[in-house]
Amino acid sequence: ALRGSLAPKSLKWSQSLNHQLSPQASYKVAILGANGGIGQPLSLLIKMSPLVSALHLYDIANVKGVAADLSHCNTPSQVIDFTGPAELGNSLKGVNVVVIPAGVPRKPGMTRDDLFNINAGIVKTLVEAVADNCPDAFIQIISNPVNSTVPIAAEVLKKKGVYNPKKLFGVTTLDVVRANTFVAQKKNLKLIDVDVPVIGGHAGITILPLLSKTKPSVSFTDQEVEELTVRIQNAGTEVVEAKAGAGSATLSMAYAAARFVESSLRALDGDGDVYECSFIDSDLTELPFFASRVKLGKNGVEAVISSDFQGLTEYEQKGLEALKPELKASIEKGITFANKQP
Ligand code: NAD
Ligand code: LMR
Repeated sequence: ALRGSLAPKSLKWSQSLNHQLSPQASYKVAILGANGGIGQPLSLLIKMSPLVSALHLYDIANVKGVAADLSHCNTPSQVIDFTGPAELGNSLKGVNVVVIPAGVPRKPGMTRDDLFNINAGIVKTLVEAVADNCPDAFIQIISNPVNSTVPIAAEVLKKKGVYNPKKLFGVTTLDVVRANTFVAQKKNLKLIDVDVPVIGGHAGITILPLLSKTKPSVSFTDQEVEELTVRIQNAGTEVVEAKAGAGSATLSMAYAAARFVESSLRALDGDGDVYECSFIDSDLTELPFFASRVKLGKNGVEAVISSDFQGLTEYEQKGLEALKPELKASIEKGITFANKQP
């Protein structure tokens, strides 16, 4: 049976945080935007991984201090800092996984799409460098709007002749983490057991939790489905409003991205039982990119789990049809941007 990777495997990861770590593998991870609100706690969580031998921290400013600080943790990985465009290429050489949380976050009243004008160019430049220096790496995009930045990354990689659709990921793990938390709270379930697939994209109504596919199997009233779906879709905004101008989710995002990175490293290391949701190049619907559950392996996406689409409820089916126009427009906006640039 398929199993969400949050259950026993990430328990191992959380348990390992309490133990002295010894290296179990030697993967290299680069974080682009490592000095940011997400970048710093994400770097810390990845520094705790026994699967990582080198952690490359890149940002346009102040990354030296973050690296010096983290390098004192007695965990196996070596931490190396890279500052500014002149050092970007070197930060990527020999890297197995690149995580990109570089870019500006939302303030109250903004949509993720309002970040497009600044973040599209940042992602484009960074992915060009990835294409030139580590085209074989898993590329994991956190920078918003994910629904557009992932298509931008794909176009950049295509232009450079190195696009591998199985290795480009929009990180939507935070939607799953939130869905799991809110469902466990509402239904009084043990958190460690709960796994809710979240499909579509990563903005507003394009975030579609498939509550009917929750594991363990649990029944919801129509009102619970409505409340949970709306809360999961607006959870990012909940944090933006609570932070009142000081940015968006950083700590829960770092937690979620660390889970996705750790899953990727386990898959690279030969674990044959790794499943995560991600926004990827996909044939599942008529849209060119779509988030769904996937099986991860050494070569990236090994299989798309299409069985989640069987037997959708009427509510989910309606949600799926409703999200398509917005998601399509966001994908096209990214593709158009990437192809207009020199
Ligand atoms: P932040 O402003 O705290 O940090 C961003 C970092 O990016 C800064 O350190 C900045 O110096 C760096 N940066 C800017 N331009 C850069 C460039 N050209 N090269 C390298 N680094 C550069 O923002 P944050 O809170 O960490 O959020 C970062 C991004 O992540 C935002 O776009 C936000 O919307 C997005 N986000 C996505 C999710 C998700 O689920 N995918 C969740 C939360 C936030
Ligand atoms: C989130 O879901 O928390 C992120 O996409 C950040 C945001 O702008 O909401």
